[in-house]
Formats: sequence, structure tokens, C-alpha cells
Amino acid sequence: MFKKHAKLLRVCCPRDSSLLTKISQRKNHLTFMEKTALITGANRGLGLEAARLFLENGYRVVFAGRSLAALENVRRSLDPEGTKSSILELDMTSSSQIQSTPEQLEAAGIQIDVLVNNAGIFPRDGDPVDGLSLALHTNVTGAVALTLALSSHLLKALQPRVVMVSSKLGSFGRCAGSDAPLAEKSFLAYQTSKAALNMATVCLAKQFAATPLIINAISPGWCRTDMGGDDAPRSASEGAKVIFQAATLPAGSPSGTFIGEDGILPW
Ligand SMILES: NC(=O)c1ccc[n+]([C@@H]2O[C@H](COP(=O)([O-])OP(=O)(O)OC[C@H]3O[C@@H](n4cnc5c(N)ncnc54)[C@H](OP(=O)(O)O)[C@@H]3O)[C@@H](O)[C@H]2O)c1
Repeated sequence: MFKKHAKLLRVCCPRDSSLLTKISQRKNHLTFMEKTALITGANRGLGLEAARLFLENGYRVVFAGRSLAALENVRRSLDPEGTKSSILELDMTSSSQIQSTPEQLEAAGIQIDVLVNNAGIFPRDGDPVDGLSLALHTNVTGAVALTLALSSHLLKALQPRVVMVSSKLGSFGRCAGSDAPLAEKSFLAYQTSKAALNMATVCLAKQFAATPLIINAISPGWCRTDMGGDDAPRSASEGAKVIFQAATLPAGSPSGTFIGEDGILPW
């Protein structure tokens, strides 16, 4: 059990010598009600910029992603002292890693307030059905499974928030019909997965409607990242602001909506 959590704990407070000290320090930070955001796909692109924004605004961050080495690199650049962040190995296609996340957080004394389901893929080449299957697994099933696995944990926070990083390319209102603004776009795997993620957001918002958990889908706009490419009009940090805004909505805000850079979007 201890070994299982060693990776997460080792990087939480790298200068401390005893495990008990590390855990009690983590518990102290909970006592002072600091907020923590877990961001998937936090090693690059929008996830990395969102992590920067959360840290700049006084949040602690759990950088989650597939490569611990990549996560450790970015964590060191944003939090050189290693006092405000942790890293967590989390492949969104790994059911076992997703299911063990709450246990790992709790063993490390970390309470998260915000879950940002940011990790995503945009299959462009290869067999279209294989691409669709992988996009659904990564972009939808992974995000839903992580949200449900963490729901009891999140409900221990005072103002839990979940942000589903979706896309206008998943909006029927923006893409379907010849006069829709994005009518010319046709990326089967990606657009189908984001449309499904949008409906998953609607269903999850209904499921948690009687709780303080607020869950919304967002579109960051077309941003310059590995996925968005160099021609995108928006920077990754501009896109990350939409994530941050949805993650910090005050109590009583709408849940189950689709938020873009200019406000509410059509599904
Ligand atoms: N950029 C845009 O214009 C744009 C517009 C609308 C929506 N979005 C959405 O914004 C989110 C972030 O996109 P981005 O532009 O930052 O893309 P990106 O630069 O390609 O980054 C994608 C991130 O997702 C991670 N990821 C992919 N598959 C994963 C898996 N199975 N498990 C865990 N992590 C995984 C990647 O990790 P690795 O480094 O390990 O691959 C990387 O950290 C995505 O959901 C995307 O659909 C982007």
C-alpha cells in the first residue's frame, strides 16, 4: 500500500524526510481551506496553462498525466519549491489508474475541490473506426469514469467543481446544418466524442443536481497547442482562462451548461 502511493507522495514534499510529516503537512493545508485542482493532461497545452493559472491564483495543483517524467518537468518549472503541487500518473484509458485515484489522493492527505477533465486526443489519421473508438475511450469514457470515481471525494469539498474540456466542434448548434458557422468541419472521431462528452455533462449535472457539485462543459476556443496548431487565433493561456472561470463559479451557478469564451454555447 505504501509503495503504491510512494510516487505521488515523493513529489508532494520532496525535501521532507518522514512520510508522517508529509501527510500531516498536507492535512494542515486542508485545515486552512486552501483549494486544490486536479488537472488531467497537465503536462502540455491547455492543461499546463490551466495549471499555471490555478497556481497563480493560490490553488494547489495535482498535475495528472501519462508520463511522470513530463509531469515532474512542468511541475518543477511552475512550482520550483514543490510546495504547492503534486504529480499523479493517470492515463485516461486505464480503468485501474482511474479507480485508484481517490485512494491515492486520500493516502497523500490531498482533498481536491476542482477536477478538470482536460486530457484529450484528436485522431486524424488511420482507420476512422479505430480513431472513433480511441477518442470515445479517452475523451468521454475516461472523463466520465474519473468524475464518477472522484465524486464521493469531491463531495467532501465545500464548493466542488468539475470542468469538462469540450469543444465547439462537438456542438450540433455550431456544426449541424448548412448555415451553421462550423458547417464545413467534419472530423468524425473528435467531433463525435465531444458531442458525447457534452451529453455526459448534461446527465452528470442532473445526477448531482441535489449536491453542491457544479459540472459544466467548456470550449476554450481554437488555441495554439500541439492539437490546435500554430494557426489558431488564441493562445493556450487565453483558452485556460475559460477553464479557470468554469472551475471557480460561485455557489448557485448553473450546472450542466456549455460555456465558451464569449458565454453560453448551444449544445
Ligand atoms: N487546442 C484547441 O484549439 C482546443 C480547442 C477545443 C478543445 N480543446 C480541448 O482541450 C483539451 C486539451 O487540448 P490541447 O489543445 O491542450 O491538446 P494537446 O496539446 O494535444 O494536449 C493534450 C493533452 O492530453 C493528454 N492526453 C492525451 N491522451 C491521454 C490519455 N490517454 N491519458 C492522459 N492524458 C492524455 C496529453 O498527454 P501526452 O503528452 O501524454 O500525450 C496532453 O497532456 C482537449 O480535451 C481538447 O480536445 C482544445
